[in-house]
Amino acid sequence: MLTILGIETSCDETAAAVLEIDQDGKCEILSNVVHSQIDEHTPFGGVVPEIAARAHIQLLDGIVDQAMKTANVGWSNLSGVAATAGPGLIGGVIVGLMTAKSIAMSINKPLIAVNHLEGHALTARMTDQVEFPFLLLLVSGGHTQYLLVKALGEYERLGTTIDDAIGEAFDKTAKLLGLPYPGGPAVEKAAKQGDPTVYKLPRPLLDRPGLDMSFAGLKTAVRTAALKEEPVSGEVVNNLCASFQEAVADVVGHRSARAFDLFKERYPNVPAKMVIAGGVAANEAIRIRLNAVAAEHDAELIAPPHKLCTDNAAMIAWAGAERLKKLADENPSILEQNGVGDDMHEAPRPRWPLDKISESVVGFGRKGAKV
Ligand code: KG4
Ligand code: ZN
Repeated sequence: MLTILGIETSCDETAAAVLEIDQDGKCEILSNVVHSQIDEHTPFGGVVPEIAARAHIQLLDGIVDQAMKTANVGWSNLSGVAATAGPGLIGGVIVGLMTAKSIAMSINKPLIAVNHLEGHALTARMTDQVEFPFLLLLVSGGHTQYLLVKALGEYERLGTTIDDAIGEAFDKTAKLLGLPYPGGPAVEKAAKQGDPTVYKLPRPLLDRPGLDMSFAGLKTAVRTAALKEEPVSGEVVNNLCASFQEAVADVVGHRSARAFDLFKERYPNVPAKMVIAGGVAANEAIRIRLNAVAAEHDAELIAPPHKLCTDNAAMIAWAGAERLKKLADENPSILEQNGVGDDMHEAPRPRWPLDKISESVVGFGRKGAKV
């Protein structure tokens, strides 16, 4: 039995959670506290890294305390502490990882430095006991990628956006049309009252092979169409949102069909399944499209509960638990030993691709691959 405290601070959610995992790998979420900083960032129309880092400092110890109390677990009952060590906004990652290191050191238990993307990738194993291998479509404000999740620690990036993430495109489209932040839900609401056939917007990169995507041009096309219509009425906003959302659904639907084909080529004897994660997975039009594509391919679409699809610490605790379990199988003493020999040496990282083999799409910076 493992009892793990998880901490997540890589963007604008300050989160802590406690999980209990039994011998058979069955997981009980004892607490899952998420404080969204939306109110702090709304006046700026997006996440401001410095404000996020400061808010994490102010909130995190209270959130951890709340998670431990709700779980009714004492410090000495923890088997380990897992925290996001990247990728993300560096100020926030530092706050979470250093807090986790301090706790791990003071209770003499292992620290597990978790890749945030691995947290998203493994969530469906916690909620739906999904077996490896499976496809993951991660669509959030910071990430848009298809991953092949082959085994614990074995991830292959099949495709990614070469510019904006989908959530970012929704947020920027909302901003330019005068809709509130976060833009995704606002655009979806307006789109419900609009006609998606009014504006002919581009479906970037669809003529290219592979699974890469691009959304910056689409957002610019919305801007150009809006400028032509000035002054922009409510009806124009609704129609533009509907046309934009339809274009995104077309791109994601097309790429997902290709992802299923690729999965079947690689694993002809494994039933094809795709897990969706990230805030954009809440979008109904996109979900309907993905369900249709999955049905056409005789594949399964798995959508964990929304609360566990967006940023949270339960997914970090779970990824940490999977890693710790594997380490403990090889060396049972890891559960007894303090910081030494575990991830205590891991540094916070702004960039940290899950797939260490595929080439960076955007290029390499001083701190490693950008995408
Ligand atoms: O996963 P998430 O909560 O946080 C990270 O970005 O890590 O995702 C937030 C993103 C935002 O860009 C937001 O606009 C988008 O998800 N989003 C949506 C919807 N709900 C949230 N995008 C489209 N439709 C939605 N219903
Ligand atoms: Zn995330």
